[in-house]
Amino acid sequence: MSNDEFPTDEPAVVTCGLPYANGDLHIGHLRGYIGADAFNRALQTLGQDSIYVCGSDMHGTPVAVNAEQEGVEPEDFALEWHHQYEETFPQFNVDFDNYGHTHDATNVETTQEIVRTLDKEGYVYEKEIQVAYDPDADQYLPDRYVEGTCPYCGAKARGDECDEGCQRHLEPGEVEDPTSTITGNPAEYRERTHKFFEVSEFADFLTDFLDDLEGTSNARNQPRQWIEDGLQDWCITRDMDWGIDYPGEDGDDLVLYVWVDAPIEYISSTKQYAERTDDFDWEQVWKGDGEIMHVIGRDIIQHHTIFWPAMLEGAGYNKPRGIAATGFITINGKGLSTSRNRAIWAKEYLDEGFHPDLLRYYLTTTGGLQQDVDFSWEAFQETVNGELVGTVGNFWYRSLLFAYRNYEGTPDADVSAEVEERIEEAIADVREHVNDYSMRGVGQAATQLAQFGNEYIQRNEPWKLTDDEPEKAAQVIRDCVQIAKAVAVVLEPITPDKSQALWTQIGEDGDIADAHLDEALAAPPATFEEPGELFGKIEDERVEELTEKLEERVEAAAADEDETESDDTDGDESDAMTATDDLEPLLEDRIGFEDFQELDIRVGRIEEAEGIEGADDLARLEVDIGFETRQVVAGIKQLHDLEELPGTRCVLLANMEPAELFGVESNGMILAAGDEADLLTTHGDAALGEKIQ
Ligand code: 2FM
Ligand code: ZN
Repeated sequence: MSNDEFPTDEPAVVTCGLPYANGDLHIGHLRGYIGADAFNRALQTLGQDSIYVCGSDMHGTPVAVNAEQEGVEPEDFALEWHHQYEETFPQFNVDFDNYGHTHDATNVETTQEIVRTLDKEGYVYEKEIQVAYDPDADQYLPDRYVEGTCPYCGAKARGDECDEGCQRHLEPGEVEDPTSTITGNPAEYRERTHKFFEVSEFADFLTDFLDDLEGTSNARNQPRQWIEDGLQDWCITRDMDWGIDYPGEDGDDLVLYVWVDAPIEYISSTKQYAERTDDFDWEQVWKGDGEIMHVIGRDIIQHHTIFWPAMLEGAGYNKPRGIAATGFITINGKGLSTSRNRAIWAKEYLDEGFHPDLLRYYLTTTGGLQQDVDFSWEAFQETVNGELVGTVGNFWYRSLLFAYRNYEGTPDADVSAEVEERIEEAIADVREHVNDYSMRGVGQAATQLAQFGNEYIQRNEPWKLTDDEPEKAAQVIRDCVQIAKAVAVVLEPITPDKSQALWTQIGEDGDIADAHLDEALAAPPATFEEPGELFGKIEDERVEELTEKLEERVEAAAADEDETESDDTDGDESDAMTATDDLEPLLEDRIGFEDFQELDIRVGRIEEAEGIEGADDLARLEVDIGFETRQVVAGIKQLHDLEELPGTRCVLLANMEPAELFGVESNGMILAAGDEADLLTTHGDAALGEKIQ
């Protein structure tokens, strides 16, 4: 790899985190795949030889658990989702050059080859460890089969991931108070021999790697902290039969951890593309000096910045040049939740009849590859009507219509110096934004250019010039057609269909995706047909209807949950069993009053609340507890609107041992109920600092 400005002379591969083949795609997935697709297209407009590859993540407990619930074999289950994804992505103009899956022969072979090399190079060793086991289900409990408490931050955690707290990867045996997700019973720990990859050997390499790494700052900063804290070796096998066998050890119910073979699909998918097309040197990218750029979710930074580059280095492969870790996505200000149906589903969006480019534009210009995105139908309408209809579409249509009616195409005149300079400025902006991994910047550069076009046509009023100053009129319209073309070229990575439609309207041949950025300054054809409008307004009634639909189904999902809960009380034992399945079991052990007295729980009031940079879920709170104001870190960033929290009364465990999370000291613990962190409060007028007793 190089850190030279794009375009470089080397071939490039852009990837996006593989979706687990276990459920419907939604807007949370789309923002990553669309963002990476736009980035790859933008690199190509700069002249970079670049491809975009991905595949479905078929293995691991995320797939096995869901397949089991459906009563089908994991392979059949995952393949069905894989086929659905293959069909869905193109519908959003997400144009993978290759879309494979982790269970295909190429990936099995590549994975085993890499693991064999790591083993041969002495980076793999065996160790006896404690593995969670469910005696009732008579099985080991890898990863999502076990839940408990994160040993680092105390949040509720899954077996391999502290997904609601500090986001750390957890090793087998690390989760505290483990319970089986199969039976809900406490799990036992049993001794087993597993394979470990010596990640700790790569600390120096990883430090240097992070120094050179491009992309988003969170992808550099979090791992630096982990390296400083000391790297642990990584358990790379699991007690399961669904997955890829450890090379040479087939059939013993021990497979490679899903996070070993998943990123290797990036390589396998590139190989498949190269084999199919015969015009791409996969080895130059993955073993030589090509450019590798990953777009990922923030929750998988550790896998991509620690484990993955260490594996690549250990096996003699090239290292990634850039990693862009995308921000959160919320729906109407609240965390996206598939179980609560608070999501915009890919299929639903298309079924509602919206063009994919509208969502592509919304997601890219609000979030790009880094910022958080809040989706509401109102905000979507505002962006579409304001920017795509009002600015881009309006400019395109009025310029081309005027040109068509008066000149049957592009008037015979030269582009003015002012317009040429403005387009050159836009081209320079785009180059800079792509090099900064800012797809939001690219979208804004296009819209600002269209805005300039609108001002330009308004300022020059060509309709007043056609009779008295025909040459001046022709020059103004020539400028406008040039700007329209330039906007289409700049916007193509984000709105490929609409840009193609404009391209065709101005009489250009072929595919706008093949046009380089400099094409923005090349003269458009002399004649073209009557243009049509490319964007339509979204009406208020439509937005009301869609918002209502969304609210209703979120309420229905909540009511379903409530119904299950109220069934609890009707004395039907089987219903009661079902209803409490989701609740943490009551503890058998009782404590004395003295033990309770040791908990110093106080009434407080949140004075300030802000997200902690780099931490997906954590917020820093200032809580007034009468005697003093405490700084507290709480895993509520996604679950509450932080701006609305100041002034909220809360309940705080004041004698909790101080801890440091993401470099921020937490001096107390705010109490909250359940997965949604429903904040505890008081209902009378207890003073701040009153003790809970
Ligand atoms: O977190 C996930 O959804 C994983 N399926 C991502 C895998 S990305 C890559 F490494 F393969
Ligand atoms: Zn944690």
